Amino acid sequence: MASARNELHEFEVLRNEELAQGIWRLVLHAPRLSEGIRPGQFMNLEVPGDNSHILRIPLSFSRADAGAGVVELVYAVVGEGTRRLSQMGPGAVSTLVGPAGHGWRLPSAGPVLLVAGGVGAPPVIAAAEMLSLAGLEFDAIFGAQTAARLWGPERAHDLGARRVAITTDDGTAGVRGFTTQAMERLLATEEYAQVMTCGPLPMMAGVVRLAQASGLSCQVSMERMMGCGFGACNCCNIAAAHGGYKSCCMDGPVFGAEELAW
Ligand SMILES: Cc1cc2nc3c(=O)[nH]c(=O)nc-3n(C[C@H](O)[C@H](O)[C@H](O)COP(=O)(O)OP(=O)(O)OC[C@H]3O[C@@H](n4cnc5c(N)ncnc54)[C@H](O)[C@@H]3O)c2cc1C
Ligand code: FES
Repeated sequence: MASARNELHEFEVLRNEELAQGIWRLVLHAPRLSEGIRPGQFMNLEVPGDNSHILRIPLSFSRADAGAGVVELVYAVVGEGTRRLSQMGPGAVSTLVGPAGHGWRLPSAGPVLLVAGGVGAPPVIAAAEMLSLAGLEFDAIFGAQTAARLWGPERAHDLGARRVAITTDDGTAGVRGFTTQAMERLLATEEYAQVMTCGPLPMMAGVVRLAQASGLSCQVSMERMMGCGFGACNCCNIAAAHGGYKSCCMDGPVFGAEELAW
């Protein structure tokens, strides 16, 4: 499992563009971060310009290219911080703290089933690249509310996914319904060694239930409201399977599903 390092990095925005409705792609020049960050880890970005907004924004990444010194993030604009982040144009500079947390563990065998919901897709795409580089086969399921907010399937194809299934709540892309329904269909015909998932909590709980019912181990990338992002404030705690709590920012965000209380 990749380890946190939590160092301060300066970054420069190279590109920041809307890819889908309210879903943005941010490409940062941050050479030291691009060398050290591992799939499933995250970073805490400072968006300058509003002194009343002191908390950094925790974001995963979808791709890091150490050769070019760049890191790609995909984020949804949901509130004031991400709205101001979307206004940082090329040449804008700020700082981030990372790599943060523990990332995906590389499964020892494939095929792996990846399940992404909404803006859970970025760390799942980073996992797809990790599996592809390791020569492990994978299938991927992507779910979104509607076609206009879907991101990830094309990238999964490009990374060599055997199958890519799409579900949308309104049926405007792929099959109408939830990712868990697509997962049930795949589990009925395919054999997998492991499941890896990131998305809304109810979706991940459903994915974990299906994986456990099929006897498959499952890694989950969790999201929690975060204060400090490095283990000092206890505001990102998650109930652990055998009592007590785990810290999402330090023990996670990627956990084995069996570590947590669902
Ligand atoms: C480890 C980690 C990785 C993440 N990776 C991504 C990513 O790759 N792409 C992406 O789009 N988002 C990601 N998020 C969620 C992202 O951090 C929040 O959407 C962001 O902080 C919202 O900031 P804001 O100021 O725009 O919104 P606020 O004005 O603070 O809040 C707006 C809404 O977003 C919710 N929210 C705020 N912070 C979080 C949070 N930390 N987690 C979940 N919901 C939150 C609030 O409950 C509220 O409903 C990640 C969160 C964590 C903890
Ligand atoms: S966000 Fe402060 S301890 Fe995790």
